[in-house]
Amino acid sequence: MDSLRNAYLAEMGIAALVARDRPGGAVLDGSRSSPVALQDGAAAPHGRMDSRDVESQGVESLDWAALRAAVATCQRCELHKTRRQTVFGTGRQTADLLVIGEAPGADEDQQGEPFVGRAGQLLNAMLRAMGLQREHVYITNILKCRPPNNRDPRRDEATACSPFLDRQIRLLQPRAVLALGRISAQWLLGSELPVGKLRGQIRAFGAQDTPLVVSYHPAYLLRSPAAKAKAWQDLLLVKTLIDEPQ
Ligand code: URA
Repeated sequence: MDSLRNAYLAEMGIAALVARDRPGGAVLDGSRSSPVALQDGAAAPHGRMDSRDVESQGVESLDWAALRAAVATCQRCELHKTRRQTVFGTGRQTADLLVIGEAPGADEDQQGEPFVGRAGQLLNAMLRAMGLQREHVYITNILKCRPPNNRDPRRDEATACSPFLDRQIRLLQPRAVLALGRISAQWLLGSELPVGKLRGQIRAFGAQDTPLVVSYHPAYLLRSPAAKAKAWQDLLLVKTLIDEPQ
């Protein structure tokens, strides 16, 4: 088993670092930074509005199939005009772990599935290093549509889309959330802190105080492989959450 994990760690590019430190002292601090008021049109990651505040509703009672259908025909923001298709999410609807990225890119827009490009390949390797198959977790994004030219999601887009994510979380009831990258982390936690400050701890998310761990986005890890060691520590932290006896 260790050799298998080492192989996956090597795939992540961190073979030399095998489980040296166990994550310790993680705190479920329960604190959430106050949402920050932003001008319309600003990029998204600064203060998630609770979807109860958003005209949107009608989503809270939907089952998985109806929710997917609602997303597929959504026109709540301008992104519907430029998307090829929506990217709802993939994985087990009973998964313990929910992975939340930012928004679909070109590959995802084409294939209709999150994290299928190069970043997705690395995410798969990261999951395998944790002993998980991609199919066994649930993977989705803050936005269900691709922003043109892969620009950052805007706050109005994230606000319009958030009832869908909220409903996915409610249906899934995950034991842990892994927020990948700045956009996802800042939006979910209503914080403006950089990922480097948000990662490395267990945080509480949402009305149910679901444990949430922030880590680097795989696309960032592809550009900055030195950060993979820290990402691995984050993944070990997530593993402690989903391995905990219920
Ligand atoms: N990056 C993301 O954040 N999500 C995807 O689905 C693909 C790339």
